[in-house]
Amino acid sequence: MNFRSLRDVDVRGKRVIVREDLNVPLKDGHLGDDTRIVAALQTLRWLRERDARTIVLAHLGRPDGKVVPQLSLRPIATELGVRLGGRVGFAGDCVGPVAEAAVAALHDGDTLLLENVRFHPEEEANDPVFARALAALGDLYVNDAFGTAHRAHASTEGIAAYVPAVAGFLMEAELTALGRLTNDPALPFVCAIGGAKVKDKVGVFSHLLQRVSAFVIGGGMANTFLAAAGIDVGTSLRDDDLSPAKAIIAQAKLKNIPLHVPSDAVVSTAFDADASAETVPISEIGARMILDIGPQTAAAYAAVLRDARTIVFNGPMGVYEKPAYQNGTRTVGEAIAEATRNGAVSVVGGGDAAAAAHELGFAAAMTHVSTGGGATLEFLEGKTLPGVAALERSAQEAGIR
Ligand code: 3PG
Repeated sequence: MNFRSLRDVDVRGKRVIVREDLNVPLKDGHLGDDTRIVAALQTLRWLRERDARTIVLAHLGRPDGKVVPQLSLRPIATELGVRLGGRVGFAGDCVGPVAEAAVAALHDGDTLLLENVRFHPEEEANDPVFARALAALGDLYVNDAFGTAHRAHASTEGIAAYVPAVAGFLMEAELTALGRLTNDPALPFVCAIGGAKVKDKVGVFSHLLQRVSAFVIGGGMANTFLAAAGIDVGTSLRDDDLSPAKAIIAQAKLKNIPLHVPSDAVVSTAFDADASAETVPISEIGARMILDIGPQTAAAYAAVLRDARTIVFNGPMGVYEKPAYQNGTRTVGEAIAEATRNGAVSVVGGGDAAAAAHELGFAAAMTHVSTGGGATLEFLEGKTLPGVAALERSAQEAGIR
């Protein structure tokens, strides 16, 4: 990695701006999944213990450059304080006199969270004047927001041009873990891929086809692959356009990489008709819809995964939120956990995949569960993440100076 780490710099008494991804589910002020808050703690704790004056920048939701009170980060300051074991201050704006006064009042070891950066339209526009105003709040910038590193926004990218920039511990951990998938992965390397649409993951297929030994495919996208192979998938969710799936099938054939698709499925007459769920061979879907891979498919996928030495789990195999359709995702998750216990590197990436791993209880058994949604997908597509590129530029400039 060509950027500097928090370990490389002296932070004592310094005003340290930390960009975190605290974009967590919040409803009527009540917090849902707190994974991203917990993931931010290592960096924040380290800074607090070393007497830095920590100024946290973050976004919540998509307020489109307007002040939306329901998307205030104020409740998150309280949550951070509880987990850090001390008070975390809050300022009602991220730039201007309110932010400046709150920063000026900080003592060594204090932590301050500033209001949602996306309340200003200049954030997403990556406005240089706004980026410079954010940078002026501190002496050092730490980007720890891996989950937002695919956005070229003022607080994730622009700011790094105006203040020395380093990576936080979460950013480093994510890039190290994801890097193990793309830099010389141990073989066999298997990608368990699911999710609704093939067209959303064409880039992931294309990039990973250069690296993986096999794909095991589930979720809604498996229906599209089945349809592309001429199988009648009844009323199942599938992409109308079969050409991306056909192109992936052709590329995989050319490279001799197996694309495993379901041989049986759990089907129902309707999404909400769980009582009528039954298992059928893939040739007998009829007028029903596929809601999970079947047990024969799950066992076959598990066998492929148990032999793998590198695994990426990128999407559930079925509607795992409902008990009737959990078996596929659970069986695949357990096989990945077993492979990991036997020495494989396993990475869970993409929002839905992480949610399923937590919900079904196999997250703790994985080598790494990424906090990124779109950022992880873009990494797996081989794209450059603007937030990471900005850290690299900052390191190069520091080398020149
Ligand atoms: C995420 O939730 O994936 C990140 O926080 C980025 O949010 P965004 O998709 O609204 O930019």
